[in-house]
Amino acid sequence: MNLLETHDLTKAFGALVVTNAVNLRVAMRERHAVIGPNGAGKTSLLNQLGGQLRPSSGKIVFKGQDITGLAPERICKMGVSRTFQRNNLFPNLSVFENVRLAVQSYRGLSWRFIRSAGASPEMREAVERILDQVNLLARARQTTRDLSYGEQRQLEMGIALACNPELLLLDEPTSGMSPAETERMTELIRSFPASLTIIIVEHDMQVVFALADRITVLTYGRVLASGTPAEITANDEVREAYLGQEGGHERSHA
Ligand SMILES: Nc1ncnc2c1ncn2[C@@H]1O[C@H](COP(=O)(O)OP(=O)(O)OP(=O)(O)O)[C@@H](O)[C@H]1O
Ligand SMILES: [Mg+2]
Repeated sequence: MNLLETHDLTKAFGALVVTNAVNLRVAMRERHAVIGPNGAGKTSLLNQLGGQLRPSSGKIVFKGQDITGLAPERICKMGVSRTFQRNNLFPNLSVFENVRLAVQSYRGLSWRFIRSAGASPEMREAVERILDQVNLLARARQTTRDLSYGEQRQLEMGIALACNPELLLLDEPTSGMSPAETERMTELIRSFPASLTIIIVEHDMQVVFALADRITVLTYGRVLASGTPAEITANDEVREAYLGQEGGHERSHA
C-alpha cells in the first residue's frame, strides 16, 4: 500500500493552475524527491499535502484516509509534518525551548502546564532525543539566533520531527547553504530512521541523487515524469525541460 497518494490533485489561483491533475504515489519508507523549475508548483504541492493550502479539486489520501482540506494540526496529528522554505523559529528562545514548545503543542498541553511539563524528565528526554536526531544536542542551551544558518535549518527539522511523523515533507532543506552545510544536511537526512517516509523538494541535484529512491518532475504544475533516478536521468523530456539547464534558473535563489 502507498503511504500517500494524490488523485488528480488540482489547485488554481484564478486562471493560474499551479497544481494540475497531479497523481503522486509515495510508498512507505520511500525518499521521494520533487524537482522542477522555479514556479513549477513544488511548494504549492507541499502546502496542500500539509494542509496549509486547500486544493481546488482532487483528493489526498494518507494511509488510506482522505485528508483533503484538513487543517495542518489535524494532518500533523495523523503523522504528516513539514519544514518550510523560510525560517520559522523563535530566535530569542533557546534551542531546547524551541523544540520543547513544538513537542508540547503537539501533545496539546495547555499553557497552564507548560512550566511544570518543561521540568518533567519525560519531556526533557523527548526533547533531547529530537535534538540528538538533528545533531544539536550540544547546542541545546544556546539562544537560537546565535546558531549558524545551517544549524537553524537543522533545528527546523527537529521541530518538524516533534509531532513524531511517519511522513516528513521538506521544502528545499539546503537552500542558501554553503557546500559544507549542504553536505551536513544531506547526511542528516540520510541518517533519519528508515521507517520515516520523506518527500523532499530540492533544487540541488547532488542532494537529490544522494537521497532519492524516486523522483517526480513538475513543470507548470503537471507531472512531467516520475520514476527512479536512473529513469529520470534517461528521460529526454526531463533533460530538455530541466536537467539540461543545470546551473540555470533553479540555482538563482540559492
Ligand atoms: N497564494 C498565491 N496566490 C497566487 N499565486 C500563487 C500563490 N502561491 C503561489 N502562487 C503561484 O503559483 C506558482 C507556483 O508557485 P510555487 O511556490 O508552488 O512554486 P515552486 O515550484 O515552489 O517555486 P520555487 O522553486 O521558486 O520555490 C507560481 O507561479 C506562484 O507565483
Ligand atoms: Mg518553492
